[in-house]
Amino acid sequence: MTVKHFLTLNDLSLEQLTRILKRAMEVKTERATGQVSNSMQNRVLGMIFEKASTRTRVAFEAAMAQCAGHAIFLAPDNTQLGRGEPIEDTARVLSRMVDIIMLRTFEHSKIEAFAQYAQVPVINALTDRFHPCQLLADLQTFEEHRGSIRGAKVAWIGDGNNMCHSYMNASRIFGFHLNIACPKGYAPDADICELNQDSITLTENAIEAASGADLVVTDVWASMGDEAETLERQRAFKPFQVNQQLMQQANKDALFMHCLPAHRGEEVTADVIDGPQSVVWDEAENRLHSQKALLEFLIQY
Ligand code: CP
Ligand code: NVA
Repeated sequence: MTVKHFLTLNDLSLEQLTRILKRAMEVKTERATGQVSNSMQNRVLGMIFEKASTRTRVAFEAAMAQCAGHAIFLAPDNTQLGRGEPIEDTARVLSRMVDIIMLRTFEHSKIEAFAQYAQVPVINALTDRFHPCQLLADLQTFEEHRGSIRGAKVAWIGDGNNMCHSYMNASRIFGFHLNIACPKGYAPDADICELNQDSITLTENAIEAASGADLVVTDVWASMGDEAETLERQRAFKPFQVNQQLMQQANKDALFMHCLPAHRGEEVTADVIDGPQSVVWDEAENRLHSQKALLEFLIQY
């Protein structure tokens, strides 16, 4: 049996990712028109969360329920993982019981080890390095509002974090250009820059990065795990706030996205995130549809 994992966008081809996005739009229509799906009948998803989540958990759990499957939520506090059972053993045991597993954790190496021992598909539901599920929703949202993202200019403003890394991979795979503006010391990882060097431009100037952009994206200044650095990050990231002045550098019809949760008055002003260019609620909703399509793809692979 071939098992396909989704640890980063690089695990799938452009053709496969495009197929998932097309299916995401179909399942969205199916839900809107009241069609009933049983594509996950008798299927069980194991969900391990070592970090907090609202959207990712609800999207996966609702997706399984809406398709006649079931999801099991596992947190370290009340599983043996929290008492030191090795991740590799957990992967082997869960593989004997469920059909697909998602993991949200800290070190990316942990999900790689997990996937190595899992005998069912493993989905990265966020690590310190990548957040590929969010990219599926963002790409779906861009396409719904503006058509193909190929050839577009996207501006990433803020931290060179897991979301930024996934945007970098997406820029190479989907053929758009990504301007990345980060404060000194917060640039994305060098190996990911090298892999995506032809589709990215790095700068420390947010205005420059946003100039002529079709899409402006930002994220929290302190990701989960970075809480101890909150104050120093607030100082470093202040010139990287997405506000009206910055949005005016972008194209007139530029969209604004944020994976959420957002901090109004920090990385984005309320008038931008709650304003007419923001598509964050569609983006959040599309987590449901794109993850449903991803589950179907990996289970049927
Ligand atoms: N965007 C996102 O992944 O949200 P959650 O942390 O709420 O899952
Ligand atoms: N970069 C953020 C994304 C949250 C969905 C974090 O890792 O906390």
